[in-house]
Order: sequence, then structure tokens, then C-alpha cells
Amino acid sequence: MISPTIENALNDQLTFEFYSSYIYLSMAAYLESIDLTGCAQWMKAQTVEEVAHARKFYGYINERGGRVKLAAIGAPKIDWNSPLEAFEEALAHEREVTRRINAIMDMAVCEKDHATQIFLQWFISEQVEEEASVNAVVQRLKLASQSPGGIFMVDKELGARSINLTVLEESEDDD
Ligand code: FEO
Repeated sequence: MISPTIENALNDQLTFEFYSSYIYLSMAAYLESIDLTGCAQWMKAQTVEEVAHARKFYGYINERGGRVKLAAIGAPKIDWNSPLEAFEEALAHEREVTRRINAIMDMAVCEKDHATQIFLQWFISEQVEEEASVNAVVQRLKLASQSPGGIFMVDKELGARSINLTVLEESEDDD
């Protein structure tokens, strides 16, 4: 069993992962509206990853005999001033996810909940990757803004990211 405090924190994070997916889908819609379909493709791939993260929490809460409780998700922002601004906000969002995961880890340490600490370890490593990959796009967009046509090259590059639906199956396997 998990304690009610840990159960609530994991449920909050489950909802926050769906919220992340929702924000990135909104960013994808904005990027598509300005014809940056490659940047939009990158964001759409990210939305799938976030749903997979949410499902990992779903699986773990159930596995520990807890109760999954889905909560309301707020409306995301729908417009940005530039692709760079959208990706900078995505980076800030990922940093917030990291802060939240670390806070739940601190709770699990405090409660001597070893299983939750092991479960969260995957997310701690994942967040290093998540921040690094969004930051890499931010840096490329900054460089692109200095050369004519630079944005189109970055857009083409980001469009090569495939949408990996197997992460959803993998997250189910973890249940
Ligand atoms: Fe699930 Fe991108 O953090």
C-alpha cells in the first residue's frame, strides 16, 4: 500500500502529465497555424510521450493498491509570439515537471517508501533528457533567427522526429 500523501502526489503528477500533453498539443496547433509543420510534428511526438508518462503513474498507483483519481485539466494557452517563445515555455514547463518529480521523491524519502523512490528514479533520468532535448531546440531556434531561411532548416530537421506509439504499449506493460 502507499500512503494517502504519496497517493495524492502521484495522482497530481498523473494529471500534470496529461496537462503537459495538452499544452504541447496546443503548441503544435499554433505551430501548424504558422505553417511550421516540422516544429508541430516535434510537439505532437512530445504529446504522445507525455501520455505515456501519465500512464506510468496510472500503472504504478494501481500496482501499489492505490486509487487512480483523474482531475480537471486547465485550458492551455493557445497563442505565442514566435516558435522560439513556444519552445522556451516548453523548456520552462519541463523544469517545472522536474521540480515536481523531485518534490515527490523527497516525500518518498521522508516516508521511507522505497518502492516509490525506485519508480521515480526513471522519471528523474527521463527529465534530464526531456530538458536537454527541448533546450537543444531552443538553442537551434536562437541560431536560426540570425540567418535568413534558418527557421525553415530547423523546421525540416524537427519534422524528422517520428511519433513513437510503442511508448504507450511500454507504459501499459509497466502496469
Ligand atoms: Fe512528462 Fe516532459 O515531462
